[in-house]
Amino acid sequence: MSSANNIVSNAAAPTFKSSYKIASIPGDGIGPEVVSATIEVLKVLTKKLDTFELEITDFDWGTDRYLKTGRYTPEDYLEVLKGFDAILFGSVGSPSVPDHISLWGLRLAICQPLQQYANVRPTRILPGTKSPLANCQPGDLDWVIVRENSEGEYAGQGGRSHVGCDHEVATELSIFTRTGVRRIAQFAFSVAQNRPRKMLTYVTKSNAQRNGMVMWDEVIREVAEDYPNVTVDHMLVDAMTVRMVLNPRSLDTILATNLHADILSDLAAALAGSIGIAPTANLDPTRKNPSMFEPIHGSAFDITGLGLANPVATFWTASEMLHWLGESEAAVSLMHAVEKICAAGVVTRDLGGNAGTKEVTKAVVQEILDPKPQ
Ligand code: NAI
Ligand code: MG
Repeated sequence: MSSANNIVSNAAAPTFKSSYKIASIPGDGIGPEVVSATIEVLKVLTKKLDTFELEITDFDWGTDRYLKTGRYTPEDYLEVLKGFDAILFGSVGSPSVPDHISLWGLRLAICQPLQQYANVRPTRILPGTKSPLANCQPGDLDWVIVRENSEGEYAGQGGRSHVGCDHEVATELSIFTRTGVRRIAQFAFSVAQNRPRKMLTYVTKSNAQRNGMVMWDEVIREVAEDYPNVTVDHMLVDAMTVRMVLNPRSLDTILATNLHADILSDLAAALAGSIGIAPTANLDPTRKNPSMFEPIHGSAFDITGLGLANPVATFWTASEMLHWLGESEAAVSLMHAVEKICAAGVVTRDLGGNAGTKEVTKAVVQEILDPKPQ
């Protein structure tokens, strides 16, 4: 079930290697809770399969470090990360630091310089769980959102003058480059092409935003010519929210800008049951740099330390990481175990259950060690 839908399973995998170096950055809030649960599961999985090893190194990069040292990371952090095959990330953000400082201090400070320009967000309803949409069954909602992850509205351009004065001015400049749009469009078309329905919907706002968004539309139509077997359609972002809610079956692969896809993917996660299940891969499709894998959710201060965090998003994230590393058997086994325990009703509160992080983790470990018959 999970293998066919996996977003990165069809990407070119590196040559087989028996041991992979993983940088683990649990970060803040529930990040450490879900990442430690995932590492526990990965250790059991690799031991059981005995076909490859994961050498996991833990980094304390997060808000505590920032409050002590003034930096989220050491200065040579990019060189450090380049020594790894992949990065497993939890979340960053704390009530004690403004969100734009924490996001730019850690997550964006990794994604942007490492050219992880493709942010890939698979979304589907897991067995045994429910969409809040009436009449939306597993299979009715099975999407991959491809988010441009290096420029656009999150290019970091702009500034503030006359801060605090009545005539203060602030600008937030979106940057779109032909190269940036072309490469993400090519990536999204290849994702769409490798999925059974071969459909791509691209989302812009080219009625109101007549420069960058119109260039997006043009470049995507040019790239589409190289993928004649992919059916393409276009939506304006506001109308897209309506279509996602009213006609989820009509969508498959979705391509959008950094901001639009960020918003649409939270909606997608909620429609699929909970943000607590939604994974993300920040990929450098050239494989020159390590890619980073993380749940979509943030630090969830409201449930931090309570043992309530749903670890499924990070388990699914780890499965995507294993696919990217070329370990598809392990990736599929992990998702099968997750789907089995969801189907059996061992789910956290956000999915309507009453299990905690530990119970879900224990059930997945048990399922890996001793799979129950279907
Ligand atoms: P959030 O995703 O942390 O939480 C939103 C809601 O979803 C909360 O009610 C939370 O309890 C629930 N939720 C999230 N993950 C869950 C899980 N695994 N299991 C059960 N329930 C879960 O988003 P919010 O509240 O907007 O942001 C909190 C902090 O996280 C902020 O500092 C924000 O900047 C940061 N953040 C970081 C991200 C990252 O590191 N990639 C992504 C999104 C937010
Ligand atoms: Mg987001």
